[in-house]
Amino acid sequence: MAEINAVTKLVVQDGIAIITVNNPPVNALAHVVREGILHAAKQAIADDAVRAIVLGCEGRTFFAGADITEFGKPLKAPGLDEVIGALEASPKPVVAAIFGTALGGGLEVALGCHFRVASADAKVGLPEVKLGILPGAGGTQRLPRLVGPEKAVAMIVGGTPVGAKAAFADGIIDEIVAEPIPGAIAFAHRALAENWPLVRVRDREEKILATRGNPAAFEAAAKSALKKFAGVEAPNACAQSVRNAFTLPFEDGIKAERDLFMKLVTGDQSRAQRHIFFAEREAAKVPDMPLGVKAAPIKKAVVIGGGTMGGGIAMCFANAGVPVTIVETTDEFLAKGLERIKSTYAVSVERGALSQDAMEKRMGFIAGTTDWDVIKDTDIVIEAVFEEMGLKQEIFGKLDKLAKPGTLLASNTSTLDVDAIANATSRPADVVGMHFFSPANVMKLLEIVRGKDSSHQSIATAIAAGKILGKIPVVVGNCDGFVGNRMLARRTTECERLLLEGALPQDVDAVVQKFGFPMGPYAMGDLAGLDVGWRIRKHRGVKAPVSDALCEQGRYGQKTGKGYYIYESGARTPTPDPEVIKLAAAKAEELGIMRRNISETEIFERMFYPMINEAARILEEGIAVRASDIDVVWAYGYGWPVWQGGPCFYADLMGAKKIVEALNHYAELTGDAGLKPAKLLEDLAASDGKFESFKVAAKAAA
Ligand code: CAA
Repeated sequence: MAEINAVTKLVVQDGIAIITVNNPPVNALAHVVREGILHAAKQAIADDAVRAIVLGCEGRTFFAGADITEFGKPLKAPGLDEVIGALEASPKPVVAAIFGTALGGGLEVALGCHFRVASADAKVGLPEVKLGILPGAGGTQRLPRLVGPEKAVAMIVGGTPVGAKAAFADGIIDEIVAEPIPGAIAFAHRALAENWPLVRVRDREEKILATRGNPAAFEAAAKSALKKFAGVEAPNACAQSVRNAFTLPFEDGIKAERDLFMKLVTGDQSRAQRHIFFAEREAAKVPDMPLGVKAAPIKKAVVIGGGTMGGGIAMCFANAGVPVTIVETTDEFLAKGLERIKSTYAVSVERGALSQDAMEKRMGFIAGTTDWDVIKDTDIVIEAVFEEMGLKQEIFGKLDKLAKPGTLLASNTSTLDVDAIANATSRPADVVGMHFFSPANVMKLLEIVRGKDSSHQSIATAIAAGKILGKIPVVVGNCDGFVGNRMLARRTTECERLLLEGALPQDVDAVVQKFGFPMGPYAMGDLAGLDVGWRIRKHRGVKAPVSDALCEQGRYGQKTGKGYYIYESGARTPTPDPEVIKLAAAKAEELGIMRRNISETEIFERMFYPMINEAARILEEGIAVRASDIDVVWAYGYGWPVWQGGPCFYADLMGAKKIVEALNHYAELTGDAGLKPAKLLEDLAASDGKFESFKVAAKAAA
């Protein structure tokens, strides 16, 4: 055996050279790996005793892609294209031994090999689009030659990996094997014994020629794949590059791919998406978490309340295969809750996203009861009842009496004081907030609210539970609205003001959507139900003249067919309503507010800058420990477009000075001192500083 370098080994066994790479955690194709593969391949090709080559990995996965941390830095040779070129040019068959996730550059390396075998649970894909780039090592030129440009454009623009079975059916994988390296060796022996021709993927022209002769199906596939990506650079570049695969000769297609890659990787959209990739992983790391704190196992769960949120949370457990029991007050509420869950799953079955079998299996994980005895034997309880402190305290008092020691007691409160809830128990160390976002079975964000007494163990368990449920956990401090809703409240205040001052809901929504949000704030309000905020305002003695008046007229949004917009006969598409403008004008007159034309720029600044200002206060108070945590909250909980990087990333692009100036102007215009720039923002403006500098190193992931 030869050690090629620190991460690469070469063994020759019975005429087969086996190259293995071990670069934890995910065998990213860092410089040292590229160098190792290239040297090993050259050595194997030159060795007369070698008749075929197997390329595989140790650890948890085949190469999961290029090393993303190297992007934006000068490329150190050899590049991946050189490595792939050497493998592809080998006169001896090269077999890739895939397991785990062969992603991005990892799959591109495999496509440079003559053959690919994979274990049954492997996944392969080109997810670069999710990092704001395109596959830059030949993926857009080779994959279409295997699966056809139509399928390739869907895979590359969508970026979602496929399982080994589907990859085998599509011809990406040549064989499914029990063990990747032994399977690849056996495959190589067969290829030699049967003298299989060495056809390089780049030379497989059949599917390319078919599309060249009739590109209509490709254009339809590209259009469908690009539907939800207006204004986003990478998906469009991906589609163009796949188009090049059948309109240009291979070498020209590769060159065009390289040029597009370089343009994207140095652009702001890709920087933003890479920022979110790392921020998401960083957010689960708690800086003061002592080493060695272990999360408690989560084998059984209880959710208190079978309403929309409680049901959605229960579905998360069921989807993860964790048995969960919903506790309700009456059999009637329970039946209603379970029925709602069933019909939500049924919609997925109808859409073909879930099989009937899988639905039944998931329903099998969900039980319901009105008997609180179930609390005695559970690892986690998540309370998801109305936002009413008295009720929550009563429930936590009850949980305290019933739960075994060490059960994690969590509240799904979206605004209330977690310490006040914890103080209703004799074990505040076991209490945390676990704030899910609606619909809970879909939205990825989980705000984990750390009370003043929450123990490290409780935080670690809440993070682990979040990961089991497939969520992105972000640990935040305890304050009104935590990170997300606290910032959102600033935007909501401006929404109300803008209507009074003369803006139209559709104009404001259009500005927010143009930025990349899937929905504007008024359409969002109508979807969520305007009565929710109305009730909270009444409780707090706060007024929002236009929104309050709408609710007084029974206009709660989509569910009543009218809100800020009209929804004709159950439609979900909002239609502007002149009555709302009349109402806003009347309220403005009552309040002596002069209505005027409001520019797109002003709308934009008033939608975004007050939220950025609140983010600065959240950092000042230590409610978020890193600026990037705030970005993760907004990207995964509120639909902030990932290619805009989150509020703090975006503020850094804008520059704090511009934001401070605008905030001072709007504070004066509205007389709202809350719009005055936060001290932290002023300091950033004065020093030309960046939110990016608010980061902390954590010892380890919890
Ligand atoms: N480069 C550098 N670091 C990477 C990485 C990559 N491609 N992929 C993952 N990591 C790091 C993560 O940042 C994380 O680091 P920390 O432990 O320090 O936080 C660690 O590896 C483990 O990652 P996860 O927590 O995500 O582990 P997981 O088991 O949940 O998921 C995975 C594994 C599915 C591979 C996931 O990490 C992933 O999707 N990675 C990105 C894959 C990708 O996008 N590949 C394409 C890269 S771009 C490319 O290849 C361009 C090209 O064309 C040449």
